Amino acid sequence: MKEIIQRNFDLSPAKYDEYERLTGRFASLASRLYHEMAARAAVPLETVLDAGAGTGISSEEITARGATPIALDLSHRMLGSNPAADRVQGDFDQIPFVSDSFDAVAFTASLFLTPKPDRAVTEARRVLCSGGTVGAVVPLGWRTKAGEDVFEQLSRTSRSPTDADAVERALRTEFDIETGRWSFETSPNALRAFHSVPAMAARLYPKEEPSERIRRANELLTEVDEPLEQHWRWFVGT
Ligand SMILES: C[S@@+](CC[C@H](N)C(=O)[O-])C[C@H]1O[C@@H](n2cnc3c(N)ncnc32)[C@H](O)[C@@H]1O
Repeated sequence: MKEIIQRNFDLSPAKYDEYERLTGRFASLASRLYHEMAARAAVPLETVLDAGAGTGISSEEITARGATPIALDLSHRMLGSNPAADRVQGDFDQIPFVSDSFDAVAFTASLFLTPKPDRAVTEARRVLCSGGTVGAVVPLGWRTKAGEDVFEQLSRTSRSPTDADAVERALRTEFDIETGRWSFETSPNALRAFHSVPAMAARLYPKEEPSERIRRANELLTEVDEPLEQHWRWFVGT
């Protein structure tokens, strides 16, 4: 599973950044998550492990708030364009840092990508200093304005290794949790651009080769023509 996730993200930086230029979605998520974490932190967020840092959208948001991100990602290619001074290729299920290293661990759109979030959460607890803060943001899906799930309407399942409930259960084993939801108005074009990212098209057609899964995702989504909402759940643990 891990190798598949890594391979899918290794193919994804260009399309991932194209989607971000269109929507600014990951910058919004990282910025909001940081805000929620800072509001509850017992110690100032100076050194932040950006767990699943990708191309650096979340790392840049952490830097913009005056903190220092340490970028950790499974995918060497995603990490390639990350501007953080400290970048480490590695697995957040086995964080390659000693205990008590960070004021915060931020999982911006990443914790649901591991099949066993309890391991990542235990690791986050271990590398946090006393009074440290954890944050995570997890997708809840794409809906029409009437509240209908887009993929249910299309009779297609969109899968991630772990869902928001499993992430919440894992976080509650180690932290006191506060949680909430965010909704973003979005468009059919953004939905198609998202599923033109090889790692995202794999949510719909995991068994197909990258070009074929993107072709099929675009074919499936071609008829979607109404305004949409994208929903996310955030968690902050102390
Ligand atoms: C949706 S991207 C989010 C990237 C970034 N946080 C942002 O806001 O743009 C998810 C990232 O998590 C990474 N990832 C997935 N599983 C991981 C793991 N077990 N350990 C480290 N990184 C992982 C992927 O390679 C990918 O770059």
